[in-house]
Amino acid sequence: MGSNTIHDIKIDDIKNAVIEVKNINDNYYNKTGDRKRYLIYTFGCQMNEHDTEIISGILEEMGYEHANSAKESDIIIFNTCSVREHAENRVLGRISQLKPLKNTKPDLIIGICGCMMQEENMKNYVLNHYPYIDLIFGTHNIHELPILINKVLQSNSAVCDVWEENNDIIENLPVIRKDKVKAYVNIMYGCNNFCSYCIVPYVRGRERSREPEDIIGEIKSLAEDGYKEVTLLGQNVNSYGHGLKTKIDFPDLLYMINEIDGIERIRFTTSHPKDLSDKLIYAMRDCQKVCEHIHLPVQSGSNQILRLMNRHYTKENYLELVDKLRSNIPGIAITTDIIVGFPGETDADFMETMDLVRKAEFDLAYTFIYSIRVGTKAAQMENQIPENIKHERLDKLIELQNSISYEKNSNLVNNIEPVLVEEISKKDPNKLSGRTRTNKLVHFEGDRSLIGNFVNVKITEARAYTLIGEIEAKQ
Ligand code: 5AD
Ligand code: SF4
Repeated sequence: MGSNTIHDIKIDDIKNAVIEVKNINDNYYNKTGDRKRYLIYTFGCQMNEHDTEIISGILEEMGYEHANSAKESDIIIFNTCSVREHAENRVLGRISQLKPLKNTKPDLIIGICGCMMQEENMKNYVLNHYPYIDLIFGTHNIHELPILINKVLQSNSAVCDVWEENNDIIENLPVIRKDKVKAYVNIMYGCNNFCSYCIVPYVRGRERSREPEDIIGEIKSLAEDGYKEVTLLGQNVNSYGHGLKTKIDFPDLLYMINEIDGIERIRFTTSHPKDLSDKLIYAMRDCQKVCEHIHLPVQSGSNQILRLMNRHYTKENYLELVDKLRSNIPGIAITTDIIVGFPGETDADFMETMDLVRKAEFDLAYTFIYSIRVGTKAAQMENQIPENIKHERLDKLIELQNSISYEKNSNLVNNIEPVLVEEISKKDPNKLSGRTRTNKLVHFEGDRSLIGNFVNVKITEARAYTLIGEIEAKQ
């Protein structure tokens, strides 16, 4: 934390709160021999996963230890996502389930943070319908958490503090990373694009980039800690650098990170097609550590719908980009996001999306049913599409994409792929899993001591979403 104040919060007040809460927790430990424990439920994207790592870091700095279940927790935090209604309903359902526990354990602190709390209506709904919630904060004031928890502990009453915005970037917050092999690194926050369906610009604020020295410093220290892979995070990494004093853009940043010893793989997400420059394509081609994968959300194949979505490109522009990526970066995997049932989407519009999917031959597509987000432009558009039609379109799209994904993965059978071993396979505890440079998940037999290392894996079988293989030889 560089300056002395952030908005009207003094850094010293945060530091003092950390000490006070830690004292309370240490006294409890001295009396009982047990630690106060925390649990965080995370919903949504990688940004949220990384915010959870920071919240974990802040809580552990204050003497909390990670809990294995809600029952043994003293503080439970929901880090929420508001990108679709479905995600919001899941959060509300889970919070309701905690009511009996709160009744039997009144000292339990239940908190909600993240994107849902940045929506005024949702925050008020939670305040009115879930009176047993103790703590509410937003995406802009995570660093303030020690003060808020201290208030809850001292006053024994609920605390709600959500900042509307925060243009400061707060460096050096503590972080407990979930993974020991690959790490998330924020390079920018917020979004200025205002795609007409999307709530993100309203809940994550305006776009702001981190200083390159701060990013490089963080990645160097990750390399020293033994991390092999970094994923650079931003809502639209291609506009990295706007507004910084240093003249720098995203490709420049990639060249700098490519020089860091110890880091072997660089990934990034998310890219907006309208800002994907030739310079970036050449940087991906020329930086040996930048992996051959790009997540490039297309959202729709219909030019009319793309215009209504405020995306600033056409189906033809997008397919040109796909060609350019494939011809410059052989073997590149391209993944995407697609929304079906956007207001006004006709059968013909949907057919354009199916056509684009056939032509682009994505490795994987995350497919979504359009969900009305109050406050966005699209929520007020006429011709909202009936649910049954949205579902029919989604099913057709998934069927088509699955066959393409399967076909693409089948082409890899008998290939030998360098894989960074990540963990014991979640599917089969006798196997390991890791990813190819193209970000494909591979399951294979091997000793757990290989976790964190690179191995050559011969692909023996393809599925639509994963690959099966066997280790060839250690690199
Ligand atoms: N409805 C459905 N999908 C949405 N997304 C964003 N907003 C909505 C919405 N209102 C999807 C987009 C985006 C991904 C993260 O979520 O495809 O790329
Ligand atoms: Fe949402 Fe569009 Fe920004 Fe992505 S680029 S976060 S879809 S507004």
